Amino acid sequence: MTAARRADRAVYLFSHPLLFALLGATRHRPVLRLGRTVLVHHPDAYREVLTRVPLDRTAERTTGGTAAALTGGGLLFDQQGDEHRSARGELARLLGPAGVAALRPEWQRILDRYLGGLEAPVDLVPAVRELAGATAAALTGSAADPVRLALAAERAAAATARAHLPALLPRPGGERRARAAALRLSRLLPDPRDAMLATAAVNTTLAALPRAAAWCARERLWDRARADAPGLAAELLRRTAASPVLPRAAAADATVLGHRIRRGDRLLLVARHAAEAQHDAPAHPYATRAPFGLGPHSCPGAALARAQLALLLTTLAPHRPRAVRTVPHPTSALPSYRSCLLRSTAGPSY
Ligand code: HEM
Repeated sequence: MTAARRADRAVYLFSHPLLFALLGATRHRPVLRLGRTVLVHHPDAYREVLTRVPLDRTAERTTGGTAAALTGGGLLFDQQGDEHRSARGELARLLGPAGVAALRPEWQRILDRYLGGLEAPVDLVPAVRELAGATAAALTGSAADPVRLALAAERAAAATARAHLPALLPRPGGERRARAAALRLSRLLPDPRDAMLATAAVNTTLAALPRAAAWCARERLWDRARADAPGLAAELLRRTAASPVLPRAAAADATVLGHRIRRGDRLLLVARHAAEAQHDAPAHPYATRAPFGLGPHSCPGAALARAQLALLLTTLAPHRPRAVRTVPHPTSALPSYRSCLLRSTAGPSY
């Protein structure tokens, strides 16, 4: 295993040790039932569930159900049928090529301001936090300070994940804290229903971009970043699989790769394994798309996420930075760095 892969795997395992140890230990089973919970590891099983099995978007302990319970509903993840389709259509316009082109100058200004010449070590996390917050503010029409908005979205997601993921110790008051954090986020938004959009945009970006840049630095991939930043961005998003598990629930009986799924089963769709993030050269044709879901259940922000990372890699590449030090985040909802220090190796002072 390369040093880059080892370091990135450590962040992933550190974030939710119990859950991710279980997923690692069972990953050779394509589909595994544990009581009413079904672990879905294999890329074909993941694809079948997301494209063929009716999913209950409001069930307890799914992403949508949790969001609805915390905020009173009306969010994208818990909408169904026509309501969901029209909300997604609106979002596609904001997150499409024109939306990305409109946001790019702002992203570049933020990156230039933080990164400078990288002669001294620079922490990438605050830069990405402002980038993600500015994106969320633009998409939701919020006038809040981007860093404040991003921090509120991080806290809401972290409190929600802690209240709903398996843990070694009980967490009294978790629900209450999650509800309060969701409320604080909603108050920064003109339409509180956009809380899920802000949460999805901020937390995935903060998980993905610093980890991808650190991987690039540790593996010395800067020539590749210069030659093909979009291609490298897509590959690093596959290897880091920022949203590693999708908690969902089956809305009907189904059979997936010969395994029976029953209506009401809790499904843990392991995007990280569907993306074959554990391999440098994936064999499955859907591996690169898998971190973003698939078919009707795919991320509307995928192109924007790839464009953001490609811009970050392009901005860093001339400095050929090395990773000075990375520290995993102890409480983030998704496996992320709390700090990620990079320093130029291209300058005369190095
Ligand atoms: C590396 C970055 C990202 C990853 C890995 C990722 C992954 C995902 C996944 C797996 C879903 C679930 C799809 C479903 O089950 O319906 C999702 C949904 C979503 N994502 Fe992303 N995402 C990323 C970045 C973004 C960004 C940057 C934005 C917005 C700017 C965004 C906005 C959304 C929204 C709004 C949804 C909810 C869609 C719905 O319920 O229909 N994502 N994302």
